Parts: sequence; structure tokens; C-alpha cells
Amino acid sequence: MSTTINTYHSSFNPPPVPPRPGHRGGPVLASNTPLVKFISVVLLLLMIQTFGGFIYLFHKISTLQDRRYDNEISALKQLQQCAETNPASDDIQYCSKLMELYRIVLKKVSTAEGRVAFLMETGSYTIPQARLVSNKDMGQSNTLLWSTSHSVLDKVSLSMSGVLTIQYPGYYLIQSHVTFSKAHAKDPLKQVILSQKTGKRPSELLRSFCSLPSGNTIPSLCTTSETAVFRLEKGERLFVNVTDKQLVNMEFTTFGLFRLQD
Ligand SMILES: *[C@@H]1O[C@H](CO)[C@@H](O)[C@H](O)[C@H]1NC(C)=O
Repeated sequence: MSTTINTYHSSFNPPPVPPRPGHRGGPVLASNTPLVKFISVVLLLLMIQTFGGFIYLFHKISTLQDRRYDNEISALKQLQQCAETNPASDDIQYCSKLMELYRIVLKKVSTAEGRVAFLMETGSYTIPQARLVSNKDMGQSNTLLWSTSHSVLDKVSLSMSGVLTIQYPGYYLIQSHVTFSKAHAKDPLKQVILSQKTGKRPSELLRSFCSLPSGNTIPSLCTTSETAVFRLEKGERLFVNVTDKQLVNMEFTTFGLFRLQD
């Protein structure tokens, strides 16, 4: 049997709410209206002030920019006058000073642009470079092949046929060591670094030689070394040719490439 009382259907009236101290009853809004009105007005004024402030600031910034633009235009006009007319001697001084300033500004802008372009192209400051160790797997051609698993390659690509392709133009330090373990029957032992620009024939960058006594029973080695800085183009291909790959000691044969600057 349920013992709960359903108050909805109970015939008892709800008990009267006891009067709270300090509360005089009557409509609550009536006594606060002046205060509410005052606060609303203050808030409205604050909003107007903030809004007005923003408008003033925007206006001020745009006039400042206009003035700067006007200054640039007048400096350009002065430069143009310097170029067009035959200026008097004190004008020449002024003109050269103006020119000097312009050169400084242009240089700053172009280096900044270059840095930004480099960052955007490369996505980071990682420097394009390659450190190649030669591939034990010889192949038939006299172009050196490089191990793809043991070489370090950053932003330079390497093909299976031993060709490096430059992705970012600039000045590169190139270093190459090729070690030979046997003399050739007819030709001197040599290594040649070749470069091929897109749509051109290969051309020689560096060539070096070394010699070994022929018909020697004592094992002997000689190393050809090359180091130089070259400006390389995007898409330029580099490879190393030797007299005869069968005479090369692969263990002491390396190639390095490091991008120095634009
Ligand atoms: C480099 O070696 C390759 C492979 O032997 C050969 O086909 C090519 O003609 C050589 N290039 C030059 C310029 O000597």
C-alpha cells in the first residue's frame, strides 16, 4: 500500500510563505528602475566610446599609410629627376645619397625575399647536401654508382645510374675522392666530374689524375681528389666518370655536395 500523498490533489492549501526581512513586498522592478536605467546609459556610453575609438584608430592608421605612400612617391619622383636631368654638382651629391639609400633598401628587401622564398621552397632551413659512398655493385659503365642505403641525401636526388640532380640552385661545395688499386694498361687513372644542364650536353667541371706502377706485385693505391665551389642550377645533373671502374677501390671512394648560399 502506498503511503505517499499526492499534493496536487490534496485538499490542503499550501502553507503561506513567511515574510523575509528587508523585503517590503510589492513589485521588485519598480524600486530598481532608476538604477537599471542609469547602468544601461553608462553601458551605452561605454559602447559608443569603444566603437568611436576603433573608428578613430582605423582612420589614423590609414592616413599614416597614405602619408608614407606619398613620401615614397616623392622619393621616386626625385630619383627620376636625378636620372632624367643633368643635375648641378650639389644635386649630384644629393642624388647619389638618395641612390645609396635606395640600394640599401633594395638589398634588404631582396635578401628578406630570398630567405622567405628559400623557407617556402624548402619548408625549413635544412641545407641541401649529399654524402655518397660508392656502390659495391659495379655495373658496366664507367660512371660511378652510389649506394642509396648508405648515402646521406638532403634535397638532392640520386638515380640508380649514379646521377645526382640539383633541386635548389645556389653555390655548392663539391668534394670527390676516387681511389684506384690497379694501373690501366694504356690510359692514366683519372676521375672527371661532369655536369649536364637541362637541354645541354654534359660538360666537365673537374678532372684529376693519379698513377700507380704497372705490373706491381705489392698492393698499392692512389687517390684522385677534387674540391671546388660551383654555382649549380635547378635540374642540373652531376656524375663522376673514371678511366675504368674495374680499377677503382670502392671502399675509399666518396662524393660530397653541400649548398653554401644562393
Ligand atoms: C661517362 O661515362 C659513361 C659510361 O661509361 C659514358 O657513356 C659517357 O660517354 C661518359 N661521359 C663522358 C663525357 O666522358
